[in-house]
Amino acid sequence: MLHTPICALLGIRHPLCQAGMANYTSPALVAAVSAAGGLGVHGGLGRSTAEVQRLCRETRALLPTAPFGINHVIDRIDEAAFAASLAEGVPVISLSWGDPGPWTARAHAAGARVIAQITRPDEVPVALAAGVDALVAQGTEGGGHSGFLPLAELLPTTIAAANGVPVLAAGGIVDGAGLVAALARGAAGAWIGTRFLATPEAAISAAWKGAILAAGTDATVHTAAFDQLWGQPWPGARVRAIRNDFTTAWDGQPDALAAQHPTVQAAVWRAERDDDPCLIALMAGAGVGQIQTLRPAGALVGELVAEAEAIIARLAALIRAAGTSSG
Ligand SMILES: Cc1cc2nc3c(=O)[nH]c(=O)nc-3n(C[C@H](O)[C@H](O)[C@H](O)COP(=O)(O)O)c2cc1C
Repeated sequence: MLHTPICALLGIRHPLCQAGMANYTSPALVAAVSAAGGLGVHGGLGRSTAEVQRLCRETRALLPTAPFGINHVIDRIDEAAFAASLAEGVPVISLSWGDPGPWTARAHAAGARVIAQITRPDEVPVALAAGVDALVAQGTEGGGHSGFLPLAELLPTTIAAANGVPVLAAGGIVDGAGLVAALARGAAGAWIGTRFLATPEAAISAAWKGAILAAGTDATVHTAAFDQLWGQPWPGARVRAIRNDFTTAWDGQPDALAAQHPTVQAAVWRAERDDDPCLIALMAGAGVGQIQTLRPAGALVGELVAEAEAIIARLAALIRAAGTSSG
């Protein structure tokens, strides 16, 4: 059975976490992942205090004992929603995009573990000074907002600077081989977003799920156009999403988008209402082309772990075979 320090730290059976994703997680998703031995994490971004309370309570009702988490985006944090997470006794607080210092101290005082996601090496000492319990190194391959460094560069740099604090790998991991690759690079486990969007439990639209399943190679773009559309600049990040008519028209065209903003905004609102994949933000990581099936989230956890274990066993057998043939 795969076991790393993150398992004991978080009280989970498998070194695999489902990333908090804005308002696209559901109690069914988070509870299924945690019940299967991973860590399910709610997104907190864009959710009111009342929604956070409801999510936590419904998740706890489905999942009486196992741990789960909730993410808060520090740069846009809703203080009351954060306080509600602590008051609800959420065991794991995930923080991203900002200095986790004051929030970590409050989470620890409430008895929660804290995981901070970083996208640049200079964020590591800041997170360590905050006293976080674990880090997520999110490569540019990641879906949603992600930075600019590839995971292959960011992960080893983060691990080297982490002073033994466990580091999870995020960005483009969609299968057991990706989990093994993360472990091989020294990560304590994987933090997976997009793969868990392709589950019946994920709270995204049917068209978005369909686009994930239909995506081929080189399907994503890392674009500033969505943040411009939404009127919310996000320094140090762009949105990784599946290419569609919107990204084809507006990626790299800030002046043209600014000139036509009201018309484009109205068209996107229409598309969101009609669930039209041509214009909506189909956020997904760079591994999306490898996702072919919608799988129940709990089964998916088991499959990813079983695949990873089978690969590790096969690799170990390769070493034995080499030893045998040379002896
Ligand atoms: C649709 C979507 C929404 C996301 N929302 C958030 C968020 O609210 N907060 C956050 O820290 N990360 C967010 N992320 C990033 C994830 O935490 C994680 O780093 C990423 O999904 C990993 O890459 P992958 O999608 O290729 O697995 C989001 C990712 C996706 C796909």
